[in-house]
Amino acid sequence: MRILLVASAFNSLTQRVHAELRERGHRVGVVLALGEDTIRAKVAEFAPDLIVAPMLTSAIPEDIWSAHTVLIVHPGPKGDRGPSSLDWAVHEGADEWGVTVLQAVAEMDAGPIWATEPFPVAACGKSELYRTEVADAAVRAVLTAVNRYATGAFVPEPLDYDRPDVRGVLRPYHAQQYRRIDWTTDDTATVLRRLRAADSQPGVLDELYGREFFVHGGHPEDRLRGAPGAVIATRDGAICRATVDGAVWLPQLRPRRIPGGPTTFKMPATTALGADLPPGIPEAPVSPAEAATRDTWSEIRYREENEVGYLEFAFTSGAMSTEQCRRLLAAYREAATRPVNVLVLGPARDFFSNGIHLNVIEAAPDPAAESWANINAMDDLVEAILTTTDTLVVAALAGNAAAGGVMLALAADEVWCRASTVLNPHYRLMGLYGSEYWTYTLPRRVGAATAERLTTEALPVGARAAVSLGLVDRALPGDAAHFWDQVRRDAETLSAAPELADRLVRKKRRRAADEAERPLSDYRATELGHMWRNFHAPGEPYHALRRDFVHKVCPTRTPDHLIDV
Ligand code: COA
Repeated sequence: MRILLVASAFNSLTQRVHAELRERGHRVGVVLALGEDTIRAKVAEFAPDLIVAPMLTSAIPEDIWSAHTVLIVHPGPKGDRGPSSLDWAVHEGADEWGVTVLQAVAEMDAGPIWATEPFPVAACGKSELYRTEVADAAVRAVLTAVNRYATGAFVPEPLDYDRPDVRGVLRPYHAQQYRRIDWTTDDTATVLRRLRAADSQPGVLDELYGREFFVHGGHPEDRLRGAPGAVIATRDGAICRATVDGAVWLPQLRPRRIPGGPTTFKMPATTALGADLPPGIPEAPVSPAEAATRDTWSEIRYREENEVGYLEFAFTSGAMSTEQCRRLLAAYREAATRPVNVLVLGPARDFFSNGIHLNVIEAAPDPAAESWANINAMDDLVEAILTTTDTLVVAALAGNAAAGGVMLALAADEVWCRASTVLNPHYRLMGLYGSEYWTYTLPRRVGAATAERLTTEALPVGARAAVSLGLVDRALPGDAAHFWDQVRRDAETLSAAPELADRLVRKKRRRAADEAERPLSDYRATELGHMWRNFHAPGEPYHALRRDFVHKVCPTRTPDHLIDV
């Protein structure tokens, strides 16, 4: 079928639906909902059989929904309506929620129902939930609805609040008034629910040291305690704030915009507070091994089971600053000295990595210098993985990866993805040539021609398509928990396999042969030569593209690379 995606942004869910429909042989067009006439023009030109809106914050014009079937993905169960469905679900601590595919009609979210899928609400931030359980349920619902539409015989179910399975209601916009935290009375569970319901957008408006901030993210702390509301510790850029019955970690803050002033963006909490953070608040470090045994916030954890090492990292938004890369490198080096045969790298859920930290770079006094430090720190990490020859390294991607984050995964010997993963193996949209030794790893996996196509066409690739290209080795079905069960089983099998010793010998020989043919340092120098120009040469688009990305400047048109897919 010819399926047109209409979306407010080409976000993760839209990319996932795009990849899933293309994998099933549909011709998929994309138009960003930047105005009714833009949508009309694209519908006229593309002549779709069906229109699907995976993420839409505006209404579809009547002349379009009355002439075409338009299916809207709504992140709520049957009967749920309104613009803040997930916020309410997380805020109220729902155990189960749903995604419903509705037909567009005059009244928002009130059209006939084509498909609905339930999902369990994990204890995490709203956007992580959106990229994980919501995305999986939405794809199942969209594929069901598309198949039903294709039969030509399916009659969608009118929304009827008298039906026993229609339990949702119309709810208002989840404004800051519902999100407010009272640090003198709210317990930790309430504080965490508020923070998670507001993460990653819009954050919870709060006050610290006489300044207003939006707080983004919130994680429990098991040991530290203090006067309710007080900042009692820092760790790796996050602050720990006491509640009435415990404490929570707050990794990121965004200063409230001054009316008429420039837009603000998220940054590590200690950076945002700057000189306002009083001296004497202790840094409370935790080692990766200790973090793995505790219920505290840590971006890096390390554990061992049955001769397999697991280096778990979870960086907010998948973005990795210079400091974060260095910390992960130190943890990696330590893990690589452990007596394990197989080392598995990757977060438990959500983004694997999205490369260098564009927000931290934007906040730096000299963004070009910070970009340079950041890419070098990424390269040091990738180099350490590439030159590990006495352990088999597996990159395990429970969630998406982009740009340098994909190339970070490719440094491993094997790349195992959850089947729902979406990869963006390209840098072009940020105006960068890219580094992370991609000119060594990518063509080695997919061949020079495909490497060229992937990096220039700049489209998302679903995990199954990535396997068929050789970009990754496996796409494992199921949710994140199933994925990790399978990863653990297979890593243990690899570790115990009699062939492992031979495999490591072959790995060492191959690295030596590759090094003799062209040293890694040469790949790095060439890539960094391009990156230096991207960061410093006049007329390069990177700084403007980064600024727009960080400040969330809305595009004015559907980007060219999406137009004629
Ligand atoms: N640095 C800082 N923040 C980043 C980031 C990066 N490299 N990559 C993603 N983010 C942030 C986004 O700003 C967004 O923040 P928000 O939660 O405040 O809205 C969040 O991560 C999620 O990203 P979003 O774009 O909403 O998710 P998505 O799944 O729809 O798209 C990407 C994911 C990776 C395709 C898109 O974010 C992207 O293009 N990132 C930049 C990748 C890049 O160019 N890296 C630098 C070169 S190595």
